[in-house]
Amino acid sequence: MRISQEQYSKLPERLQKHFNHGNFHCTVKPISLMKYLCRLVTPPDGIVLDPFAGSGSTLIAAKQEGFNYIGIEMEAEYIEIAEARLRAVEDEQQTLFAEKNL
Ligand SMILES: C[S@@+](CC[C@H](N)C(=O)[O-])C[C@H]1O[C@@H](n2cnc3c(N)ncnc32)[C@H](O)[C@@H]1O
Repeated sequence: MRISQEQYSKLPERLQKHFNHGNFHCTVKPISLMKYLCRLVTPPDGIVLDPFAGSGSTLIAAKQEGFNYIGIEMEAEYIEIAEARLRAVEDEQQTLFAEKNL
């Protein structure tokens, strides 16, 4: 996932490596594919549940598609990465919103 230099600089140092050199989670998948699958199976007001959330690709896709989402993950390090990636989506969406209101 690409994030801006500003977003990158706000990340705790221990998480920056995951964005600088790629996420190390073993099954990171294309967000575009997960967005397509979320749209395919989720009703308009549905909630995407990922009980094995890993580094959060499915949750990011759900968020970008405007769905509510719930993730469950047992590895604390992956939770931190997923949370950081989800925050980056929020910053991205706020930036796009601000740009449209110029
Ligand atoms: C294949 S990865 C998940 C990928 C993720 N769905 C995505 O969208 O990128 C599977 C994850 O499930 C987590 N996991 C395995 N057993 C679990 C359990 N019992 N409870 C919570 N998480 C679990 C692992 O730590 C691993 O990160």
